[in-house]
Amino acid sequence: MVSADEIRAAAQIIRAGGLVAFPTETVYGLGANACDAAAVRKLFELKGRPATSPVIVHVDSVEQAQTLAAAWPPAAQKLARTFWPGPLTIVVHKNSLIPDAVTAGLTTVGLRMPKSEIALALIRKAGVPIAAPSANRFAQLSPTTAQHVRDAFGNQAPMILDGGPCEVGLESTVVAVVGGKVELLRPGMIFVEEAVAAADPDGTTGAHRSPGQHKKHYSPRTKMILVNEGELPEYGDGAFLARTDRAKSAQSKSNCRRVVVMPLEAVEYAAQLYKTLHELDGGGYDWIAVESPPQTAEWTAIWDRLRRATQADR
Ligand code: TXA
Ligand code: MG
Repeated sequence: MVSADEIRAAAQIIRAGGLVAFPTETVYGLGANACDAAAVRKLFELKGRPATSPVIVHVDSVEQAQTLAAAWPPAAQKLARTFWPGPLTIVVHKNSLIPDAVTAGLTTVGLRMPKSEIALALIRKAGVPIAAPSANRFAQLSPTTAQHVRDAFGNQAPMILDGGPCEVGLESTVVAVVGGKVELLRPGMIFVEEAVAAADPDGTTGAHRSPGQHKKHYSPRTKMILVNEGELPEYGDGAFLARTDRAKSAQSKSNCRRVVVMPLEAVEYAAQLYKTLHELDGGGYDWIAVESPPQTAEWTAIWDRLRRATQADR
């Protein structure tokens, strides 16, 4: 889907201080040379992202990650060896190769080796680590296809490597390995319970909020609500993301114009969630109602994104 020529051209843009959108297994990223502060500032500008939100740095190997860290604790090594390449970001103390613009002035940096072959090829060809937030405008829905990126940036869109739809569909799990502790900062489809327990057998883990994680994030423009059975709004004209055959009764409600039956399994549900919301967001509905998923561990990341998307305020 992406030719060697396109990778070469994209790598050249990154080296020259420009921006490139590229697929990862989670969502599309908007990339810049992580060691080039001016390039990273362009990235914040295009996204409309506040300078207080740190950006994840994508690497092509555990060895490259180590070259950017002031310290690489055994727990980080264990997590990287277990879950990389893959949808896990490890936050560690940074060294001076990473400019403050990347980390919003924090002394730590989030590092991730993605699984996507296109992302890895781009990082290798560029020969530099790539700072990349999700390739959407600030606080809007993350893109899981190249078309979502085009729609978000219009004629301001950078070069986009089109690798087709993202396999995981939700942003990476973020874990901090700092100060002798292992902390979950953002749930994802890699089970943090397992990840944290593997890295932190003594259980010194504490709860911590990820900086720059705004309450309302990952949101469509349309009003979104979480509902239980039979609780669809009585007003306007809406769409319903059902998980079960409750879909049928919803359809009979005259103000529910569209019913999408989502997968029963969390992994497949995650892979389709943003794509479905992007599509419905363009449908002119007054509301998008989402049937509450189960309260079990494998739904944690999905609950996190749904809660944020349904927050009334930023
Ligand atoms: O799956 C992903 O992680 C995607 C793809 C492109 O890799 N990227 C992504 O980036 O979701 P972004 O910028 O939308 O989210 C970055 C998250 C934020 O929640 C931020 O708080 C956290 O990572 N983060 C980054 N650096 C951090 C740091 N030094 N300390 C704590 N949290 C950090
Ligand atoms: Mg994002």
